[in-house]
Amino acid sequence: MFGKICISPSILSADFLHLEDEIRAILEAGADWVHYDVMDGHFVPNITVGIPILKQLRRATTAPLDVHLMISNPLEQLPWFLSCEPDYVTVHWETLGEGRQEEEAQQIVDLIHAAGAKAGVSLKPDTPTGVLDSTLGLWDMILVMSVFPGFSGQSYIPESAERVRSVVASCIEQQCSPLIQVDGGIDAQTAPLVSAFGADVLVAGNAVFKADSYKDAIEAIRSCATQAQAQN
Ligand code: DX5
Ligand code: ZN
Repeated sequence: MFGKICISPSILSADFLHLEDEIRAILEAGADWVHYDVMDGHFVPNITVGIPILKQLRRATTAPLDVHLMISNPLEQLPWFLSCEPDYVTVHWETLGEGRQEEEAQQIVDLIHAAGAKAGVSLKPDTPTGVLDSTLGLWDMILVMSVFPGFSGQSYIPESAERVRSVVASCIEQQCSPLIQVDGGIDAQTAPLVSAFGADVLVAGNAVFKADSYKDAIEAIRSCATQAQAQN
């Protein structure tokens, strides 16, 4: 929340045949974290990468690995992902058991913390931000999705900025200050819209990996977002 802007490029838009080179290139270009999108073909329609590649990535870099789990039953799968030593693990609120969300949230956070990682929770664009009110203080990071999860290269949903504002307002009310991450359609034009309201971790797939210069793309997002933050 209003911390130093952190850019986390999503490897979903990278060249998977040269993943190690791609990771090196974004880090040399100034990326702060590496965003790793896991999709199971069930919670979201797409299927992406899982545990074996994450394990290899961990060996390839010491940069913070930011794992975004778009999978059903995250509690079942968590031990596998945690064994890969990620730095951040984010689960989706919508995947928690109906009526057992608070209990499962606590279990998830405890498991992630016991493994030495930080815990995030994510909301799809149509999930009311108020669902987080009862567990807000538990999480190290709140991820406000600015597209429907499933694919890279989608357009930013304009209502997302208002959703960031509402999450930040609840955090201030509850006196907690998790990182606020936004993911989906983020580029130098859209980043300032959410950073103005407190988003400090910006995920960008296409805006970085499809750019001619990773460095220029990352710098543009960072400087536009930092300026927007400073004006508010
Ligand atoms: C979407 C993924 C995002 C996505 C971002 O479901 O969680 O991380 O890859 O890609 P862009 O920035 O291209 O929308
Ligand atoms: Zn993501």
